[in-house]
Amino acid sequence: CSFLQEKDRKTICEILCNGLARQEYRGYDSAGIGIDGDNRGEMFFFKEVGKVAGLRKKIAESNVNTSKSFLSQVSIAHTRWATHGPPSVVNCHPLKSDPKAEFTVVHNGIVTNSSALRLVLQKRGYKFESDTDTEAVAILTKYIYDSQPDKRMSFTELVKTVLKELEGSFAFVFKSSHYPNEIVTARRGSPLLIGVKTEKKLKVDFVDVEMAGPDETMDALASPKAGGLLAPPTGPGGPPNLMRSQSRAFMSEDGMPQPIEFFVASDASAIIEHTKRVLYLEDDDIAHISEGELHIHRLRHKDGAPPTASHRTIETLEIELAEIMKGKFDHFMQKEIYEQPESVVNTMRGRVNFDRNQITLGGLRAYLPIIRRGRRIVFCACGTSYHSCIATRAIFEELTEIPVSVELASDFLDRKTPIFRDDVCVFVSQSGETADTILALRYCLERGALCVGVVNVVGSTISRETHCGVHINAGPEIGVASTKAYTSQYIALLMMALQLSEDRISFAERRTMIIEGLHALPSQIRNVLEGDKSLQEFATGVLANQRSLLLMGRGYQYATCLEGALKIKEISYMHSEGILAGELKHGPLALIDENMPVIIVMTQDSLYPKVQSAFAQITARKAQPIVICNENDADIPKGVKTIRVPKTVDCLQGILNIIPLQLLSYHLAVKNGFDVDFPRNLAKSVTTE
Ligand code: G6P
Repeated sequence: CSFLQEKDRKTICEILCNGLARQEYRGYDSAGIGIDGDNRGEMFFFKEVGKVAGLRKKIAESNVNTSKSFLSQVSIAHTRWATHGPPSVVNCHPLKSDPKAEFTVVHNGIVTNSSALRLVLQKRGYKFESDTDTEAVAILTKYIYDSQPDKRMSFTELVKTVLKELEGSFAFVFKSSHYPNEIVTARRGSPLLIGVKTEKKLKVDFVDVEMAGPDETMDALASPKAGGLLAPPTGPGGPPNLMRSQSRAFMSEDGMPQPIEFFVASDASAIIEHTKRVLYLEDDDIAHISEGELHIHRLRHKDGAPPTASHRTIETLEIELAEIMKGKFDHFMQKEIYEQPESVVNTMRGRVNFDRNQITLGGLRAYLPIIRRGRRIVFCACGTSYHSCIATRAIFEELTEIPVSVELASDFLDRKTPIFRDDVCVFVSQSGETADTILALRYCLERGALCVGVVNVVGSTISRETHCGVHINAGPEIGVASTKAYTSQYIALLMMALQLSEDRISFAERRTMIIEGLHALPSQIRNVLEGDKSLQEFATGVLANQRSLLLMGRGYQYATCLEGALKIKEISYMHSEGILAGELKHGPLALIDENMPVIIVMTQDSLYPKVQSAFAQITARKAQPIVICNENDADIPKGVKTIRVPKTVDCLQGILNIIPLQLLSYHLAVKNGFDVDFPRNLAKSVTTE
């Protein structure tokens, strides 16, 4: 954060730690902050392995003068998910270029050429303390600074020169003792936004971008003088390659410069308590903040890169802090599971007309003819989002009669899958920031396919880089294990299939049935949630202390089994596998005996008889499965343990069936005392390949 507003050191530390705590789901191996010291150019660092609570304690126990106040200052903070080097205090950010911290950096992402940079810098005598790629960036900055004879480069120019040497993905914040009270931040591949807080109304609600010319040169402009607006350079003295050179400083409507605070963060949850006014940076944007002014520059034009607008608008966010807090629940995951009756309504809101049995996804409307003409649809995603694609593939194929393939983004890229101009590629992602999914998207964009995004986070990279798409509107999801995003993705994809099929008379009856099913869904979800107690009993009873759990089903319920097993392994660390019941006799049956815990999903659809025979095969081998079945199913043999759920249309049943498994995984984790919202080794948003 950067302030032109008097604040004491204690307040600054609190702002940083609170912001970090809200971003902890991005990584929680270690956390650190760097704040201005007592003398100009000096910095104090606090770093701790583990969660932000540990960092807070360390700050509280230190003997720095917390009442010292600053009129203008810049401080930086970071919570880490290790990519280079294990979690440790030396590897914790902010990382500095040298003991005096001439340059200090926090970084999200991976610099893939850091080993080469490290070697070059070491040869030139620079010393490294950590194993991180980020330290190489801090030292490279110092090296470039040291190499200029007159030391006249502006901070922005310096960072621009550094960024040109880097490969990989990043969001950076740079701070320097040579440029006190200045901050430079830049992104390529990792998300970054800037929150703007002022007392008065701003005169402008956008920031012009200074575009680099085709030869990639871009001279930084002189700082604006009083009055705030920077005059466009004219005549021979002006930088030759600037296409636009206007930059805005912030003034209130009365034309006066005003006290202002800037917050740079990976996402809005970190800053929402301070301001709802945010500006999202694009890839290759470099923002410079100093003395109450924000200027945005472009690093360069990349051939084939999506065109970028010439200004960045300051948007007003509509989420409330309460929406990202736990409320009456013990964990975010529990809250998010319980939110599903409302979150599915939010996904459908304004899009489903229950009277006319009509679906309207505004973001897709103009593209429907192209999608219908597509020769195939390729779903591409990771983790839970991938499972929502598996769950809806059959109904998509049934209603659109277009072949659908479902791809794990990493494998899709590994195989360099052939993609053509008449393909329709759908990228499903809760965060909209998953690196593998973004790379797959860019791969498809390059090949001319129509790219559709299905994302939760508004303003995320996938939502911006796709041609069109659907926001699932599930609200912020904090728990690393995805729950409400799954059910909302499921519904969003289903609505897409329904909208695509609206021109087919032959499907009218089927469509009506499904839309009626959607109408009943929220109250049916409430009904499933009422069974929470019995799921807790399974977790503390028959499934307690088990090492392994198999989940079986087929057809629509295969995805339920995959997703249920993922939930269980993610947060309860119990080995768990989703098995297609049709494959039982081709291997998994060998695992079955009286000691192997099994859950079998046996809700009544057209495949029910086949699942009954899988049930018979495993019980014949002494398994005692728990059966997920419909409320009034009288065919389940007496004495069998059941989890009963209401009946709905076949293609919607997976939404009701996954909820008991979400709750079960939650209770298994709680029973074992595990950190439900922050499972070991995982991150909510995986922004590295
Ligand atoms: C991580 C998360 C999962 C998530 C997956 C895909 O692995 O831990 O919960 O399903 O990423 O994330 P996305 O944001 O693309 O849906």
